[in-house]
Amino acid sequence: MPRGLTFPLLALVALICVRAHAVIDTGPELPESARRGPVERPHASAAHRNARESGRDDGDHGDEIVADVQQPEEGDRIFPSYEESESYKELKCGKYDVTYEQIERDLAIHRELGTHYNSTRYIIKWLHRRNGMPIGFFGGRAYLLMKPDWKSLAHHSKLHIAYLRMIAHLERTFGAAIPDVVLVVSSSDTPRYVSPRLVNVSSPEPQLPPTRDGGPAPKALVTGFVPGPYPVAGICKSDFWPDLLLIPNFHFHMKLYDGASLAPIPAFREKHPWATREPVLFGRFSHYHLVREPADESTYKLGLGGEEICRNENTTCMGREHFITKVVKQDRERMDVKFAGMQPMVGHTRFKYLVNLNGQSISSRLEQLLPLGSVVFTESTSVGYYAYYYRTLLKHRVNVLEFWRRVPEEVFEELDWAQEHDQEAAAIAAEGGRTAATYLTGNARACYWFRLLHGLSRTLRFRPRLDKWPGARLVQEVLNEDLPLAPGGPDLIQSQWAP
Ligand SMILES: *[C@@H]1O[C@H](CO)[C@@H](O)[C@H](O)[C@H]1NC(C)=O
Ligand SMILES: *[C@@H]1O[C@H](CO)[C@@H](O)[C@H](O)[C@H]1NC(C)=O
Ligand SMILES: *[C@@H]1O[C@H](CO)[C@@H](O)[C@H](O)[C@H]1NC(C)=O
Repeated sequence: MPRGLTFPLLALVALICVRAHAVIDTGPELPESARRGPVERPHASAAHRNARESGRDDGDHGDEIVADVQQPEEGDRIFPSYEESESYKELKCGKYDVTYEQIERDLAIHRELGTHYNSTRYIIKWLHRRNGMPIGFFGGRAYLLMKPDWKSLAHHSKLHIAYLRMIAHLERTFGAAIPDVVLVVSSSDTPRYVSPRLVNVSSPEPQLPPTRDGGPAPKALVTGFVPGPYPVAGICKSDFWPDLLLIPNFHFHMKLYDGASLAPIPAFREKHPWATREPVLFGRFSHYHLVREPADESTYKLGLGGEEICRNENTTCMGREHFITKVVKQDRERMDVKFAGMQPMVGHTRFKYLVNLNGQSISSRLEQLLPLGSVVFTESTSVGYYAYYYRTLLKHRVNVLEFWRRVPEEVFEELDWAQEHDQEAAAIAAEGGRTAATYLTGNARACYWFRLLHGLSRTLRFRPRLDKWPGARLVQEVLNEDLPLAPGGPDLIQSQWAP
């Protein structure tokens, strides 16, 4: 076997270690104190814990993994057509076709290798204590498959509630037109599982990687680990996790996006017509460092003049800090980008140019900047981390200006260009707002979810069955009956939300 292709078992163990005590991720806009969260203790034998935790009974009584072969034949399954749904027509879901291309890309590896029952069970257990929420749709009803532990979720419980409300909204909107499907909805900033890139994806069935010396794999791995692709949905990925299914960010709901960001687009334009805006690149940010997997080349970034800006064995990169303390210093005339002096979004409309910088991964600031009527300068979306709409909707010098494909000084070139082409820049600003107002609406996002569930259901190599989940509760009941009784629940119910 060629050496380069052999899976290094030690790397896998190391990877699990890294993930087990990686920086605990949070919603991108939380304060530093809230961000630290409960840090898992590093341990020499993380693989051991991996196996133990993945076997833990978290209210899921279907403990033993049932072989795929015992599942009914695929031929027995009925796949309803998404186009026949009345709501699909009412919401004009066909208008958003361009965005569904991302769903096709995310599902490619699932189609190739299948989304297997054992992998699904494994990832549900692995992510249950790592900000992952197992969801199932059966007969058009939405279920939470395992009991949530609101207390250990800490500030992520808010994010889970936002998604549960979205799941309930999908049930109300599309009902029986939703196919039976099982998946994990994660609120983590970056994927938190072993990438299929690191295991043998050429195999027709997911295979445990061979050990370096060819001997049997350690028991802990054999019993605990099942390789992907996994049915995991989250807000951010890089190409390193081809199986991750991108979904719209929870902040769309929590920040009442359509009403607060899209509805005032004409008012923003009227208040500060383009010609009256200052030709300054403006931005305010909280302190976040990019979190990355050392093996993921796509998220590696260099600083000014090729300076290395990543630390902790390349797991943390100081992108924002580097930009704000070093890059901005080179051109204070044209750049006003800081950590301090936060401004409400409407205050940003005084400037022609607004900058978006990555946080721990992507930043939901980008979709909040697009409607403001200024040109959005954003870190390149063709490399590194991306959200569900970046690669299908955002186009350099069409609706955004991209920089930092390689090095951050590209921002100076884009600034020069914008100043020399003021009319084109005004058109890019308008097109950014139009893109958001057309494709990022509540309806468009509900359609996206619906198409994703349809696409995923067809890659499952098993028939999803409610009786496999004795602990399952209807999402409606979780929200209306369980949550009010949970500690802190009444506050969570009060939080603002929109589709
Ligand atoms: C799924 O797991 C069960 C129990 O560990 C095992 O017997 C079965 O062979 C697995 N199925 C596949 C397709 O790997
Ligand atoms: C991957 O799995 C296939 C099928 O099981 C096998 O033939 C191939 O040798 C494996 N490749 C590696 C690099 O392990
Ligand atoms: C970090 O990654 C870069 C690019 O892959 C590499 O050149 C560098 O040696 C790495 N640094 C460490 C400490 O691993």
